[in-house]
Amino acid sequence: MNTLHTIAQVRAAVGRARQEGKRIGLVPTMGNLHAGHVALVEKALQRTDYVVVSIFVNPMQFGPGEDLDSYPRTLAEDQKKLLEVGAHLVFAPNANEMYPDGMDGHTRISVPVVSEGLCGASRPGHFEGVATVVNKLLNIVGPDVAVFGQKDYQQLAVIRKMAQDLSLPVQIMGHPTVRAEDGLALSSRNGYLSAEQRAIAPVLQQTLQQIASAVQSGRTDYAQIINEASLRLSEAGLRPDYLDLRNADNLAPASDDSTDLVVLAAAYLGTTRLIDNLEFSRA
Ligand code: PAJ
Repeated sequence: MNTLHTIAQVRAAVGRARQEGKRIGLVPTMGNLHAGHVALVEKALQRTDYVVVSIFVNPMQFGPGEDLDSYPRTLAEDQKKLLEVGAHLVFAPNANEMYPDGMDGHTRISVPVVSEGLCGASRPGHFEGVATVVNKLLNIVGPDVAVFGQKDYQQLAVIRKMAQDLSLPVQIMGHPTVRAEDGLALSSRNGYLSAEQRAIAPVLQQTLQQIASAVQSGRTDYAQIINEASLRLSEAGLRPDYLDLRNADNLAPASDDSTDLVVLAAAYLGTTRLIDNLEFSRA
């Protein structure tokens, strides 16, 4: 497994793999890899012959005051995990390689509607940064398949819509959220939590499960269900940022006749912002 730092090197390596008739997979990440990322790589390995994992803490998707500077950068450990799982190539560019003329004045990809609300409301410009960097990574690598986690549900929806709207020649695949035994979704940001906060964190997923059960039991007073759940989060010591019921396929607000639903949440534990979601069907 090679680690390359420039776009030209990656294009050459992927070009050689293509000439050998290999199908190419891409798993974009910001590094500090955990079992969730590894599951995406395994999925890409099942579906393609040559898997590229990008590791780039993308400054364009961080807002002022967010954790760009403190975001964990652990390349050596990440390389070890990727070697073990059998990835073929790591692309680890620096910001200058991706944004040689800086980010002001750089072309940006904006995906309306699906980027609005939820994380888009509390993180202005975030999904523009995500869509732009993912588009660049897809253009650099040219994969047949790219794999993303459902943990970042809105991000996956934004990327699917971008690929569809821009006729990108790639299959976008989602992968279910990988969780700790107590239900907490694995995240690089979990490392910011104190032991006390880590003990509280699973309440987020438990609350989403309670909302799903309430809806599945036939309740349609969504606003009331959400208010009650919000209160439970606060009582447990989490500070809800949003908590919302949406249609699973397009993230439009859930209505009485929606059957495939997703409940999404972001909440702060101290200064750490956690997100999670749960898809479910209303019979
Ligand atoms: P990052 O947070 O490193 O996540 C990389 C990929 O891993 C994303 O597709 C994310 O949804 C997935 N992932 C994270 N935790 C997961 C879990 N517990 N289970 C399953 N999948 C999980 O998301 C980003 O980076 C960036 O926004 C990126 C897409 C790389 C663009 O910069």
